[in-house]
Amino acid sequence: MLELILAAIWFILPAYFANSSPVIIGKLLGKYNIPIHKKIFGAGKTIPGFIGGIIVGTFVGYLQGFIFLGFLLGLGAVTGDLVKSFFKRRLGLKRGAPLPLADQLDFIIGALLFASLVIKIPWSHIVILLILTPALHLATNIIAWKLKLKKEWW
Ligand code: CTP
Ligand code: MG
Repeated sequence: MLELILAAIWFILPAYFANSSPVIIGKLLGKYNIPIHKKIFGAGKTIPGFIGGIIVGTFVGYLQGFIFLGFLLGLGAVTGDLVKSFFKRRLGLKRGAPLPLADQLDFIIGALLFASLVIKIPWSHIVILLILTPALHLATNIIAWKLKLKKEWW
């Protein structure tokens, strides 16, 4: 079981890195950040965050020896996050307002969908990641909040 869990995390690692890097990029750029489109996605979705996430995902994939898969996982992660924010804005939710489960799973679903274009993802990976990610996401968010990288703890 532990082996399956570790294999799933190793597989999705580029997506985890791609999803957390925009928070740091956003913090570094501060008010100099450039939103993709404030009305459509909200001010929290920025061009440097989106591109940075893809680059970081690709780089992690490169270190793992699967550069193209890393690129797809990174691109899928930031795209999933962006699509989620699109729907949050249409629902009238302000930037940063919580949308449980969607906030935690958006990037995983995006990453899995994009990766599935080129490989067959084992069902065990999908099940494990969908269960494990919300808990891991919450834990890392609380750390980022404690470090004052994020405004909200969720
Ligand atoms: N971020 C970014 N560019 C992205 C995604 C995220 O710069 N494409 C940065 C922003 O500073 C954002 C932070 O990472 O505030 C946290 O991301 P997230 O929780 O996904 O965004 P929220 O601000 O909570 O906005 P939303 O309500 O749309 O989820
Ligand atoms: Mg958020």
